[in-house]
Amino acid sequence: MESFYLEDLLRSAETPFYWVGALATALLSLWLLYKLITGIRIWVIGNGDLLTPKLGKWAVVTGATDGIGKSYAEELARRGFDIVLISRSQDKLDDVAQSLESQFRVETKTIAVDFSGTDIYPKVEAGLEGLEIGILVNNVGISYPYPEFFLNIPDLNNFIYTMINVNITSVCQMTRLVLPRMVERSKGVILNISSASGMYPVPLLTVYSATKAFVDFFSRGVHTEYKAKGIIVQSVLPFFVATKMTRIRKPTLDKPMPDRYVAAEVNTVGLQDQTNGYFPHAVMGWFSAVLAPIDLVLYLGARMNKAQRGGYLRRRKLR
Ligand SMILES: NC(=O)c1ccc[n+]([C@@H]2O[C@H](COP(=O)([O-])OP(=O)(O)OC[C@H]3O[C@@H](n4cnc5c(N)ncnc54)[C@H](OP(=O)(O)O)[C@@H]3O)[C@@H](O)[C@H]2O)c1
Repeated sequence: MESFYLEDLLRSAETPFYWVGALATALLSLWLLYKLITGIRIWVIGNGDLLTPKLGKWAVVTGATDGIGKSYAEELARRGFDIVLISRSQDKLDDVAQSLESQFRVETKTIAVDFSGTDIYPKVEAGLEGLEIGILVNNVGISYPYPEFFLNIPDLNNFIYTMINVNITSVCQMTRLVLPRMVERSKGVILNISSASGMYPVPLLTVYSATKAFVDFFSRGVHTEYKAKGIIVQSVLPFFVATKMTRIRKPTLDKPMPDRYVAAEVNTVGLQDQTNGYFPHAVMGWFSAVLAPIDLVLYLGARMNKAQRGGYLRRRKLR
């Protein structure tokens, strides 16, 4: 008697179950198709034509004499922008400026300032006076000399001010100086180089990671405020790139040379407000931020950085 009742119940539930399953499968297929199409649009077709001097004659790049910043300067000069290069060392600035002028037949300007100070912005403002700026790349940034527990960071008091000034204050102040003209002309692009370390806390690189989370939040907030005025502010979150900062000499697929990274990244502008910039990094971003539980990400980050710290201190015999 009871088994008849159960059989009847199951039979009557068959049709609703069938439709719920069919609907879930259809939604999942549509979502996958959407992801595939947007993926192809971003990573295969790209938006390479957006960054041209039609945005404005000049591109401004901070931290422009090495690594990712230098590659942005080269990529934008190749696209016909005149370039304002900003870094600390006048000698290095002159070298890069000369190389851009001879390679790409563009004009350059250099501004030598140290972003660890906060009194430099009148000098930067004077250097940018009267320029029609189409694109600003807020690239300058510093990381730890080696991963370290917060209280053990050498010269901690200075370290805190320096890192916040270079990684955070520079982004806000440069935006303050450049954005008003862009808004007046109703066009312009600001690329803020955050880091994959800003997608979640990275233990033993905690201050760096937190400054990069700031850059990401700042970018996405300002983008939302000004997109209706024709301004694009993009948050760029790379994983490892082979530069002086990372001391990676041999590039691999997941740790590309900066020119390769930048060539991929510029194709995403206007398509993604927040991007890992390079397809293998986008896959890594998806796994670490969407699929993996945050506790596992924190645990693995701490483990990797403790191992690196140990290696560094053994080499330096600081223990
Ligand atoms: N490389 C990576 O794997 C990676 C990953 C994620 C995010 N990022 C971010 O990408 C950006 C660039 O990194 P990178 O690896 O290309 O760095 P990098 O190779 O160390 O180059 C840094 C550039 O910034 C300049 N600079 C450094 N400190 C400065 C200061 N206090 N004032 C003015 N200029 C200064 C340097 O020139 P001078 O020494 O001549 O001043 C150099 O041109 C940073 O914001 C970094 O956080 C890098």
